[in-house]
Amino acid sequence: MSRPPSLSSRAEALQPSLTLAISARAKALQQEGRDICSLSAGEPDFGTPSFIVEASIQALRDGVTRYGPAAGDPALRRAIASKITNENGLPTTADEVLVTNGGKQAIFNLFQVLLNPGDEVLIPAPYWLSYPEMARLAGAKPISVPSSALDGFCLDLQALEAAITPATRLLVINSPGNPTGRVLSLDELQQLAELVRRHPRLLVMTDEIYEYLLDDGVEHHSFAALAPDLRDRCFMVNGFAKGWAMTGWRLGYLSGPASVIKAASALQSQSTSNVCSFAQRGAIAAIEGSRDCVRQMAESYNERRTILVQGLQALPGITLVPPNGAFYAFPQLPDGCGDSVSFCKKALEEEGLAIVPGGAFGDDRCVRLSCAVSRETIADGLSRLARLLPAG
Ligand SMILES: Cc1ncc(COP(=O)(O)O)c(C=O)c1O
Repeated sequence: MSRPPSLSSRAEALQPSLTLAISARAKALQQEGRDICSLSAGEPDFGTPSFIVEASIQALRDGVTRYGPAAGDPALRRAIASKITNENGLPTTADEVLVTNGGKQAIFNLFQVLLNPGDEVLIPAPYWLSYPEMARLAGAKPISVPSSALDGFCLDLQALEAAITPATRLLVINSPGNPTGRVLSLDELQQLAELVRRHPRLLVMTDEIYEYLLDDGVEHHSFAALAPDLRDRCFMVNGFAKGWAMTGWRLGYLSGPASVIKAASALQSQSTSNVCSFAQRGAIAAIEGSRDCVRQMAESYNERRTILVQGLQALPGITLVPPNGAFYAFPQLPDGCGDSVSFCKKALEEEGLAIVPGGAFGDDRCVRLSCAVSRETIADGLSRLARLLPAG
């Protein structure tokens, strides 16, 4: 048999997704008939609201089945610009918006058009696992700045500033955050703005994809709206996946200075062209529609997040920073549990519990659990987890 073709150094360097490895193993065990309880989901457990589905079906019936402009349906770009202007308090025009295949492609495109080989990207940890890989794919170097569950996963501004070098190009901010579910406070964001002002070369990307998933009384603030003077250095990533339960639609957007949006659109035109045209009609219905459906889903995550948090807090030796957004909890395991990957493998093999190792998110002492599952699944998962922990 002939040898398989050798891969590019880019592909060789790519880290395979630990999350996917765990879910593949969980599926395989399930197929063997094992009773598997999965708290590993990274997506809403709701169907997409029907008025959004209907708008896309109507678009299909109306023949919206052709190529469209690479930067997105002009009506959707306008609707997103008006949403950012009115909801996020950031005056935005349609030419400052690019419609992308999910938030993921927004980040990928941005990194590709901003970063050069050797540039450094500052990523506060724990972080969403795709940021470092996407930085590497752009030839840049991800620099992780750790924080700890013991310190409430607060941004360590001193450490962040100390990590800035002449090569630092971009700072990544994700709030509400995956995996910690932490929402940055107004005060933290303002201090961050001060830090960015001290470093005139530094650009900022804020990933706001969980903006609607907030505990009662918690507010989301868009960084660029708080610091209008930094406007031309700020890029916002967002999407429809989490708020509107539209993960499979692949709809996201990037917003920022028009010149960079134009470059990202050119990149898109040479790679994926436009986002599915009739799916974009669904997105227009979503963004122009009432937020009632989004609020109802957020309320349901809040109830289930509380169950998950209370259950985790009752377990011996667990250190938990209670999440106040998104649909995850990221507890630190007690001493004696080993590294997160071995722990999660053991959890799956011994207890049939699928959870995600914190090592994938830059903190090997933690594991990520999702509350976007039924209350019964949460309770079942907590009992299985309890059996895996050293006796308290
Ligand atoms: C923090 C964060 N940003 C971006 C994304 C990408 O979302 P999308 O499905 O829109 O590509 C995810 C998905 O899990 C996420 O957790």
